[in-house]
Amino acid sequence: MQEILDAILAGEHDALGGLSVPDHYRGMTVHADESEMFAGIPSREKDPRMSLHLDDIPTPELGPGEAIVAVMASAINYNTVWASIFEPISTFTFLRRYGRISPLTARHDLPYHVVGSDLAGVVLRTGPGVNAWKAGDQVVAHCLSVELESPDGHGDTMMDPDQRIWGFETNFGGLAELALVKSNQLMPKPAHLTWEEAAAPGLVNSTAYRQLVSRNGAGMKQGDTVLIWGASGGLGSYATQFALNGGATPVCVVSSPEKAEICLRMGAELIIDRNAEGYTFWRDEHNQDPKEWKRFGAKIRELTGGDDPDVVFEHPGRETFGASVYVTRRGGTIVTCASTSGYEHTYDNRYLWMNLKRIVGSHFANYRESYEANRLISKGLIHPTVSKVYALADTGQAAMDVHSNSHQGKVGVLALAPEEGLGVTDHEKRARHLPAINRFRGV
Ligand SMILES: NC(=O)c1ccc[n+]([C@@H]2O[C@H](COP(=O)([O-])OP(=O)(O)OC[C@H]3O[C@@H](n4cnc5c(N)ncnc54)[C@H](OP(=O)(O)O)[C@@H]3O)[C@@H](O)[C@H]2O)c1
Repeated sequence: MQEILDAILAGEHDALGGLSVPDHYRGMTVHADESEMFAGIPSREKDPRMSLHLDDIPTPELGPGEAIVAVMASAINYNTVWASIFEPISTFTFLRRYGRISPLTARHDLPYHVVGSDLAGVVLRTGPGVNAWKAGDQVVAHCLSVELESPDGHGDTMMDPDQRIWGFETNFGGLAELALVKSNQLMPKPAHLTWEEAAAPGLVNSTAYRQLVSRNGAGMKQGDTVLIWGASGGLGSYATQFALNGGATPVCVVSSPEKAEICLRMGAELIIDRNAEGYTFWRDEHNQDPKEWKRFGAKIRELTGGDDPDVVFEHPGRETFGASVYVTRRGGTIVTCASTSGYEHTYDNRYLWMNLKRIVGSHFANYRESYEANRLISKGLIHPTVSKVYALADTGQAAMDVHSNSHQGKVGVLALAPEEGLGVTDHEKRARHLPAINRFRGV
């Protein structure tokens, strides 16, 4: 591994094809025999530091259409939190199901799961049938894994019945020194970014792009008012940038003055601190409070000068969904990709049908959408939102930060990279965008 790292650090990428791939590597795992370790404990008290382990992993055999990547940096996504607290189900259920398809997919069905759905690094080896990428290419990977043997996925690959999220529903993910990906997950690493900055946007940037910008999601247009929940968080920090970059007006919802400050730094002007306003959309466990929806809607109108949101960017789920449906403008769209606070949503359907609103479900992004989202990063039109970076061995704490909502933007993790700040090849472009790249640092 040291030889590989030395070659990467020396910029001798072409030499990598001549070096042998190590037969084992260090990676962050959860263990099948610990799936019940948090049984009976409330979600908030389940501690990823107890369930995430740094293990020595045998390198998987390389299959057709695949690549092994030397991972320089990765990032925490909420799916690593879900995997580490074994909610809503243990990820070993996914691995077992995937393993049933073929001998190749059976490699993923193991008693340990190497997690992580983002990476920036360098290709070490490609399998048979891979022509677009070669050893030495500097890459980032999106996390869409598809088989594409069914006609269903050939219009939009997210429709493939065998669509999975790499590093969550498949094994050998990015929170490790090596990762196994399909070659159609690879995209060029933005040259002006460090390894940890390049790794961070991946999953959330692609997801927010489809959810908000793509015609497969809300299809946001210039002039739209967009209500963004968790606007300084993983998804929200990219949704806010897409709204601003696309000529829309974001209304950013956050929960602290520090998070409001970050939204201002991104260029947003309309911000609601949900804690300071003290919204209680749920009166008790079973009943929502429409007066609170109205108070929230009035606040949005006060900020926008009377406009209701054309688009509501939803992911908190149960706690906010009733309010989201209520405040959306007549004919507007609520686009949802998650249910962090609970997946059984209730809302007053009269406000939906009488006002001709639409609820759109959105999940990750196809290769084209991921590529377009990554291209915006490469062009310096959208910027990474890294606030803090941990060593691989401290992934448990990094996941804990996200689980406890004490983070901002994205939390990075160094894999093979020995320190932050490495991997930049376009220094001139970096210098032009440095203040924007560092917006989330030190808040
Ligand atoms: N389907 C997909 O493809 C996909 C992709 C990415 C993520 N996700 C899911 O989307 C969710 C968010 O992911 P993320 O990466 O953005 O996480 P994140 O970095 O934790 O950000 C989410 C933000 O939402 C806000 N929030 C959390 N609970 C809330 C509540 N009860 N009410 C209002 N706001 C709340 C918080 O912001 P404030 O405290 O500042 O309000 C938080 O910072 C997760 O459940 C994740 O699994 C799905």
